[in-house]
Amino acid sequence: MPLPTIEWEGNIEGRVRLIDQTKLPTELKYIYCEDVKSMWHAIKTLMVRGAPAIGIAAVTGVVLGIKDIHADNSEVFLKELKNVTHYLGSSRPTAVNLFWGLSRMERVARENLNRPVREIKELLLKEAINVQNEDKSICRQIGENGAKFIKDGDGVLTHCNAGGLATADYGTALAVMFKAYEHGKKFKVYADETRPLLQGARLTTWELMHAGIDVTLICDNMAAHVMKLGKIQCVIVGADRIAANGDTANKIGTYGVSILAKEHGIPFYVAAPVSTFDLNIASGDAIPIEERSSEEVTCGFGKRTAPEGIKVFNPAFDVTPAKNIKAIITEKGVIEKPSRESVQKILG
Ligand code: MRU
Repeated sequence: MPLPTIEWEGNIEGRVRLIDQTKLPTELKYIYCEDVKSMWHAIKTLMVRGAPAIGIAAVTGVVLGIKDIHADNSEVFLKELKNVTHYLGSSRPTAVNLFWGLSRMERVARENLNRPVREIKELLLKEAINVQNEDKSICRQIGENGAKFIKDGDGVLTHCNAGGLATADYGTALAVMFKAYEHGKKFKVYADETRPLLQGARLTTWELMHAGIDVTLICDNMAAHVMKLGKIQCVIVGADRIAANGDTANKIGTYGVSILAKEHGIPFYVAAPVSTFDLNIASGDAIPIEERSSEEVTCGFGKRTAPEGIKVFNPAFDVTPAKNIKAIITEKGVIEKPSRESVQKILG
């Protein structure tokens, strides 16, 4: 059974339990968020990370935030709720699931303004738990829809971590691998290490090894060579935000992998829930790209690897153009040759 990444515990006065992903793979440690500030901090510092998991962190973070709202007028409550959502929305800019989760919670409050605040709070808790449970079935459906793309004997390359840890418990890109494995397929996975924070080395390998799937770790700069050696038959990655035309933001380095795949004639797939699409954005050019601290590059994991004072550019994501993507695998179906039209056809 996959481990739950993030879960609400208790009633409206409860707390959120999450796996501290910064401690993996050496330590499986749970932390508890009791208030909205600790959830903001957990998102910002990547204790919880991966687009769908950030969406769940957002909705449960809202429930933590409303503990401190004492208004008994629902209009005043809504105003204060918006302060909470605004605050949580400032934690990370790229994964649209964060904003999707926050607006889903605002909508519940707005649509129930005729009820007492106590009831609105209960409805918000119910909604947060729904989001968490829905994610579990959505990810399994993504896995089912994509499993056919992995053939017996294939080598599959993935970048970053789009596994159970990045969702409620089952993953998106890794869901495709988990389902293919459950269907009895025999294949190998190559996991890019994923500089600078090593989500591939620390998290993807950990998850796949636990599932019993054959996984080999490579440094990011080895992908071209491994492809040239004929070891890779498909690439499957997750997504943080997909524009209306299918351009896809994912962990920095994904764009490069897509170019390498194209050069070697290897199909490149993205696996993501519908909540990762941002149809308000026409193309990838408008996707906000998070820039993170220089220390992640110069002294990640406690050891300085570059001179003091060196200038650093540290974008956390890049955008893969739709033309490099063979298909986007969603819970609603597979979007072949992503474009504005094919995205609309599946998403409706
Ligand atoms: O910075 P992170 O670790 O949150 O980045 C995560 C990714 O880029 C994942 O590939 C993406 O969120 C897909 S998660 C199913």
